[in-house]
Amino acid sequence: MSTISRANVAITDLPWLQKYRPATFDDIVGNEHSINILKNVAKKGNIPNFLLSGPPGTGKTSSIVCLANELYGKELAKRAILELNASDERSVNVIRDKVKAFAQTKVTLPPGLQKFVILDEVDSMVDPAQKALRAIMEQYSDTTRFALACNNEDKIDEAIMSRITKLSFTNLSQEEVALRLLYIIKQENIKYTPEGLQAIIFTADGDMRQAINNLQSTYSGFGMIDEENVYKVCDVPDPKYIMEMLKRCIRYEVKNVFNAVVKLYGDGYSALDIVQTMMKLMKSASENEIEEDYYNDFLMEIAKTELVIKSGTDSELQVIGLVSSLCDIAKSILKRKND
Ligand SMILES: Nc1ncnc2c1ncn2[C@@H]1O[C@H](COP(=O)(O)OP(=O)(O)OP(=O)(O)O)[C@@H](O)[C@H]1O
Ligand SMILES: [Mg+2]
Repeated sequence: MSTISRANVAITDLPWLQKYRPATFDDIVGNEHSINILKNVAKKGNIPNFLLSGPPGTGKTSSIVCLANELYGKELAKRAILELNASDERSVNVIRDKVKAFAQTKVTLPPGLQKFVILDEVDSMVDPAQKALRAIMEQYSDTTRFALACNNEDKIDEAIMSRITKLSFTNLSQEEVALRLLYIIKQENIKYTPEGLQAIIFTADGDMRQAINNLQSTYSGFGMIDEENVYKVCDVPDPKYIMEMLKRCIRYEVKNVFNAVVKLYGDGYSALDIVQTMMKLMKSASENEIEEDYYNDFLMEIAKTELVIKSGTDSELQVIGLVSSLCDIAKSILKRKND
């Protein structure tokens, strides 16, 4: 086993997630439509109640913080903003006590500005807590505005949904993640290879929090961002190996594919690691890698298996079952083509 030399590795005291937390809208990449709406609100100062919804690490909390920075500035923010982001702050009691007490507090603000409550992870709030929140939003609508954030809007009370301006966030594109990573790489003066950068982007799958974490972990572990180091740090199967497996399914090399699954398991990867890597590969696969004839059926089968595994059945058999189905699909497509 090789030892890792830490001689040239810069250990920064601040996590990069904190150091590079966007301070202004210019620091935020992607989701332009929603960000433009927030920029407009920052200019005009008339805040509606917001719900920001979308996948983790895409900038929902960051963009609300940028809006608050612009509208209130540091000093005023201390008095005018209540930010609740710990998951133990989701209970009915906290909503009734903390949020209500804040809504009732008198704060002198410049004309046109209201107090502002930022509440993360609203989708993990139980129903009575959401109802209590809705009541406070209504009762104090003259003096207090709310920015709520969630990953899954299906779990938000319909009455809240109907009274709120919704801003949707989606996973960031590869180019958007690259843009921010390259900025950090430049600031920190990091050595990297294009393949290493691509590996970080691939494993992050549109989640900037994960991308920045993986960048810092790889850098502090190895002092250099290349493909091999990234996959060691991220502890996910090498996508080239998984792509080769998918191609073997297409060629109906059943025995080879089974052996590949056994090897990955032997290397310590879980069924979820393997299937999620397949899913990410499918999303970014070109026509040369996975022909159109196979694409939809493969995607459907992989997505089904991912769901089953996520619902609690993580076993080698799930992956064996999946690759068998992929081989069968490939065989019948080939037969259809030859008929
Ligand atoms: N669009 C973005 N542009 C620049 N940096 C980003 C962006 N999205 C996330 N980040 C980085 O990732 C970190 C986490 O982002 P943020 O808290 O805004 O994500 P989120 O969408 O609120 O995620 P969650 O759903 O988990 O709450 C930020 O501190 C920032 O460094
Ligand atoms: Mg957030």
